[in-house]
Amino acid sequence: MEFPTTRLRRLRKNPQIRKIIRETKLNKEDFVYPMFVNENLKNNETEEIETMPGEKRFSIEGIVNYAKILEEKGLCSILLFGLPLIKDEYASSAYDPQGIVQKTVKQLKKETNLLVMTDVCMCQYTNHGHCGILEENLVKNDMTLKYLSKIALSHAKSGADVVAPSDMMDGRIGEIRETLDNNNQEDTIIMSYAAKYASSYYAPFRDAAGSAPLFGDRKSYQMDSANIQEALREVKLDISEGADIIMVKPALAYLDVIKSVKDKFQMPTAAYNVSGEFSMIKAGIEAGYLTEDSIVETLLSIKRAGSDLLISHFTPYMLDIL
Ligand code: PBG
Ligand code: ZN
Repeated sequence: MEFPTTRLRRLRKNPQIRKIIRETKLNKEDFVYPMFVNENLKNNETEEIETMPGEKRFSIEGIVNYAKILEEKGLCSILLFGLPLIKDEYASSAYDPQGIVQKTVKQLKKETNLLVMTDVCMCQYTNHGHCGILEENLVKNDMTLKYLSKIALSHAKSGADVVAPSDMMDGRIGEIRETLDNNNQEDTIIMSYAAKYASSYYAPFRDAAGSAPLFGDRKSYQMDSANIQEALREVKLDISEGADIIMVKPALAYLDVIKSVKDKFQMPTAAYNVSGEFSMIKAGIEAGYLTEDSIVETLLSIKRAGSDLLISHFTPYMLDIL
């Protein structure tokens, strides 16, 4: 049937009809809030993150208090990043049972009912800022796996519900799964940063987390932006190694990747609306070039592409408007 019998504008006539035929809807439970806890901060001290307007680094006490406020607004889960006091070649503070993430997870699990996810990587904890162990300035894959497993296990033992390896070493999901299973942590969920690209959109995060590499870049482990077939291979491998949830990161410049991954594997899928995507929209709004409506429109595109979970610094804003 064609025009004039068919008129698509009928279904756009007023807000009520638009609302009931809307295909994609954002829910509070779709959102995962990335939060930063800094071992340097005490009591209720916070630090503004300059490159991410409105975002903060917290002390343990501060993060727990803020998480409670967000939980009351409907937050379901957070993704935790730690800034340690001490960095060394082997990222020892990352698997210290008394490390900043470990202590924070314990406190969050004690005082909230939030699902706590932890970022498992070495770059905030190494003195060189790379995501693995170095030998002659090269990131050594197989040596790094041992350390990542130790980090994931210590997070799990502290009570993390989900561990999220973001390093992009080959074989890490299998190794972490085996380590967790051999240590009575078979119920710990693994959310794999499966297709993680070497992206310029991480720049604000590296300022927030103090994790920029001291030399070189991450292109020998994170993916080349041009590749999608390789992303599907990465995802397939991570699923075969035991990943429960898979992630595509960043989101906006990779919506095609999200869609292909969801269509092909039909796994619980997350997308990381990264720091640069957040800050670029915030800057646009602050400059008066954009309005706040751009936030929902952007997040909808990520969900429409096929992502079930949206890891986003817009989470507090969304909890307020949903
Ligand atoms: C560390 C890590 C990064 C992000 C999450 N975990 C940065 C990087 O890989 O350099 C980026 C998150 C963001 O930009 O919001 N492996
Ligand atoms: Zn890293």
